[in-house]
Amino acid sequence: MKIDFSDKVVLITGATRGIGRQIADDMEECGASLLLVGSDQKRADELNVDAEKRKLRRRYYAANFTNGTAVEELIDEICSSNRVDACINNAGINKLNSIDEIKNENWDDIISVNLQAPMIITRRVSQGMKERRYGRIVNISSIFGTISKAKRSLYSVSKFGLRGLTVASALDLAPYNVLVNTVSPGFVQTELTERILKKDEMEQLALQVPLGRFSRPEEISKAVLFLASDLNTYITAHNLVVDGGYVNV
Ligand SMILES: NC(=O)c1ccc[n+]([C@@H]2O[C@H](COP(=O)([O-])OP(=O)(O)OC[C@H]3O[C@@H](n4cnc5c(N)ncnc54)[C@H](OP(=O)(O)O)[C@@H]3O)[C@@H](O)[C@H]2O)c1
Repeated sequence: MKIDFSDKVVLITGATRGIGRQIADDMEECGASLLLVGSDQKRADELNVDAEKRKLRRRYYAANFTNGTAVEELIDEICSSNRVDACINNAGINKLNSIDEIKNENWDDIISVNLQAPMIITRRVSQGMKERRYGRIVNISSIFGTISKAKRSLYSVSKFGLRGLTVASALDLAPYNVLVNTVSPGFVQTELTERILKKDEMEQLALQVPLGRFSRPEEISKAVLFLASDLNTYITAHNLVVDGGYVNV
């Protein structure tokens, strides 16, 4: 038994760094053709030149997900000229604020990127999936979509919401063999983590994880690949927590 994406086209958002880039590399190794989205057009152009040189089966696109219209236009352009078999809504941002420090513009940005964009993308990609009676959608939430911690109001609202979107859309799409699930990582060693946590904070948190360390992006990617693959035929509306045991302590 092996994970095979050789006849599959996979769309991945937030694919230029961290967890998303790892999922892209692993999917490609398993045979997928990739449609990859980041926030910056110049970077997408550079990555396309590099991908062509290296004969990779991937094409990069860009849209700033804080702008709902830009997301809508991009996903429409992608779906008008490509079949999408699996979609990984991974792009995400975090900003630590206690409840009294939250600014309305921070709320708008986090909700737009972490929650509105996955809704817009799911709404569009699921049209073709429904017609073909096949689709896999994986939304990347977080342990802070199940539990929370001080200064995580904004992030938790978006990630709890993403789990709600997962469950509700899984029920809408189940009759069409479109399976929708959430993967909820714990603490992962990526640029996002390094931007918001100091080194000593990371060491303290690692001590609270039963497995004693942060995860590597590939440990999240493996869970995503399974749920997005043909090996998954009966799991939908599920939340797969990949956190080294943290939420159970
Ligand atoms: N790292 C963790 O410990 C952790 C834990 C739990 C859940 N997660 C979740 O996992 C996902 C990936 O996290 P990560 O750690 O890999 O993050 P990361 O290294 O910061 O990468 C974030 C990705 O999202 C894209 N992105 C950010 N803002 C965007 C915007 N306005 N418009 C479009 N794309 C945008 C970035 O594109 P550009 O490069 O073009 O900016 C990048 O590809 C996120 O949803 C995050 O909430 C992470």
